[in-house]
Amino acid sequence: MKIAVIGASGFIGYQVTKEALRKGHQVVGIFRRNAIPLEPNLELKKLTIFDEDIFKDAIKDSDVLIGCYNPGYYHVAQKERYLEGYSLIIKLAKELKKKLIIVIGATSLIQYDGELVKDGLVYPKPWIKALEGVDLVYQQFKNQTDNLLTFVSPPAEVFDGTLTKKYKYGKDHLLYDRDERSRISVQDLAHAIIQEAEENKYLNQRFTVAYQD
Ligand SMILES: NC(=O)c1ccc[n+]([C@@H]2O[C@H](COP(=O)([O-])OP(=O)(O)OC[C@H]3O[C@@H](n4cnc5c(N)ncnc54)[C@H](OP(=O)(O)O)[C@@H]3O)[C@@H](O)[C@H]2O)c1
Repeated sequence: MKIAVIGASGFIGYQVTKEALRKGHQVVGIFRRNAIPLEPNLELKKLTIFDEDIFKDAIKDSDVLIGCYNPGYYHVAQKERYLEGYSLIIKLAKELKKKLIIVIGATSLIQYDGELVKDGLVYPKPWIKALEGVDLVYQQFKNQTDNLLTFVSPPAEVFDGTLTKKYKYGKDHLLYDRDERSRISVQDLAHAIIQEAEENKYLNQRFTVAYQD
């Protein structure tokens, strides 16, 4: 399969790129500034997604698009740029009739007391605008069924660890392990994302993955 990773140089996008290559897929890695090492089956495209025609041309031959775009937590208009970026990615996926998996945040997941994550946590200031953008994208597009769209909400903590494949799936609730930590390694998150690209289990739905042992 040919997979376009939008934001291939980012924290999550780089691991998604590596996992897709590990599984034998061809990858089109879209990045803006920070190139990643070239490997067999990886084609790199340095561009901004806001040059719509160039971006569309770069993704048009891929079977699946994976959205790991993030304007940056310190972008002056983080919230607006996040919404603008994902609105464009969703529009192009629809025009090209491509399956699209978007990695959003945990903020719209429900905690065990019924409260939304975003209402129960205190975030560092630069994150607040970013997280508002994440929520806007999810609220605006979660009920659209005319797209081939899947949202992935990681748990509260995504850390650089190892691939264990020992995570569990959930839908709208934040998952916790036995020690009440809500977490997953970025390598396992990437594994679940590529699995979804291959299996289409959560078309027009959102899922989450986290450790439960
Ligand atoms: N990090 C986490 O712990 C975490 C947790 C939960 C959810 N998420 C979600 O996961 C997604 C990815 O987050 P991340 O932390 O991996 O982001 P990140 O590390 O900041 O990476 C963002 C990626 O987007 C690219 N990019 C930014 N603006 C672009 C543009 N105009 N055109 C083309 N590419 C552009 C960047 O390219 P350059 O680097 O080359 O500029 C980079 O590859 C976001 O939706 C975020 O909300 C992240």
